[in-house]
Amino acid sequence: MRNPALETWGDYDRDDPYPLFALVRAGGPVHEVTLADGHRAWLIVRHEEAKAALTHAGLSKDMHAALARDGAVVAEGLPGPAFARHMLGVDPPDHTRLRRLASAAFSRPRMAALRPRVQGIVDRLLDDLEAHGDVVVDLVKGFAFPLPFTVISELLGIPESDRDHLGSWFTTLLAPSSAPEPPAAAVSASESIVRYLVELLASKRDTPGEDLITDLVNSADRDDALSEQEVLSTIFQLIVAGHDTTTSLIGNGTVALLLHPEQRDALVADPGLVPRAIEEILRWDAPVQHSTFRYTQQDVAIGGTIIPAFAQVIISLAAANRDPGRYADPETLNISRADTSHLAFGHGIHHCLGARLARLEAEIAFTTLHGRFPTMRMAVPRSQLRWSHGDGLVLRGLHELPVILAPQG
Ligand code: HEM
Repeated sequence: MRNPALETWGDYDRDDPYPLFALVRAGGPVHEVTLADGHRAWLIVRHEEAKAALTHAGLSKDMHAALARDGAVVAEGLPGPAFARHMLGVDPPDHTRLRRLASAAFSRPRMAALRPRVQGIVDRLLDDLEAHGDVVVDLVKGFAFPLPFTVISELLGIPESDRDHLGSWFTTLLAPSSAPEPPAAAVSASESIVRYLVELLASKRDTPGEDLITDLVNSADRDDALSEQEVLSTIFQLIVAGHDTTTSLIGNGTVALLLHPEQRDALVADPGLVPRAIEEILRWDAPVQHSTFRYTQQDVAIGGTIIPAFAQVIISLAAANRDPGRYADPETLNISRADTSHLAFGHGIHHCLGARLARLEAEIAFTTLHGRFPTMRMAVPRSQLRWSHGDGLVLRGLHELPVILAPQG
């Protein structure tokens, strides 16, 4: 019998989607679903098939090509076409060229060199929050959001004085809307971002800095140069991918630990567990729940199902991460789990470029937060937390996380 949840995919409880994922997964690895706008798509929910799909040469990420075939194609997880000329929205050979130019900034030595700076930002943010004493603080607003946003802004070379208004344009642009057309405020925010970035590129050409935007701008002299639209799209994508996801990892992970006191006590007693805990949190509650836009260029066979050509495919990383065919006791959060592999950063050529940076930020954030505030507790019951990330399905994060850092008595 067909699962009613598949009739309108996405019409599910965002605060706890996992029982539904378990139900759908038990029914098979690949399902045909109807999206909210009536489009059909194929949903992949088991681990083996998800991995196969993420590396399948017959699946394309070229949104422009897909839009040219079908102007109404759903492209959640990627910004509009104006910003879509970045590595996550193209196939090789463009993908190889776009990814190569940005990769050096995320290398192991660069990340190691960044460690003291990230520690400094974490310490300053927690100092500011601690100044609030016993009162309730919002850990998303005061910590989980500003940490990655500051780090990615510094890496890119966005001047400190510009970050507040840039941040607010992004918030407006990415705000949820159920209207078919983007709201006027989003259009205006998008125009402001383009204007700002074009001016910033010009100023980096005149006055180069030691930052990623300067590196991208300088590529103009190379054979594999990026076009202006590609540079703009890449910067746009790095800002979005570089903060929202890590904000969610810190927020979701903190709640996961606070709701599992025995796991948190183990972490506080042995901070050496932090790297393993981060992988388990990523597996158990993935900030990027489903893959970004992909579609078949030909008939593609996955898990015994033939997905027809020119169909949209959604790979559920969150469902695959809890596949009982892959993990023992998958619904249980266990920060000592020996198997630390998961699909939360994707797989294959589009595997997250910022994974090292996200892990670095999360490691310093969790070690310092739980080390400094070992008795921190939530200020509201779980039932009052809202995980929905607007109307989108791809990202899962909290808007607010009220906590008391150091309860008295
Ligand atoms: C790609 C997750 C943090 C930059 C991806 C993908 C996932 C992901 C699942 C692949 C999507 C797909 O194949 O459809 C995450 C998570 C993060 C995180 C869970 C934090 C916990 C970051 C950070 C940055 C970043 C901090 C950069 C500063 C990128 C880029 C890609 C990507 C550039 C595209 C790679 C490509 O297409 O080759 N990420 N990400 N991510 N991520 Fe992340």
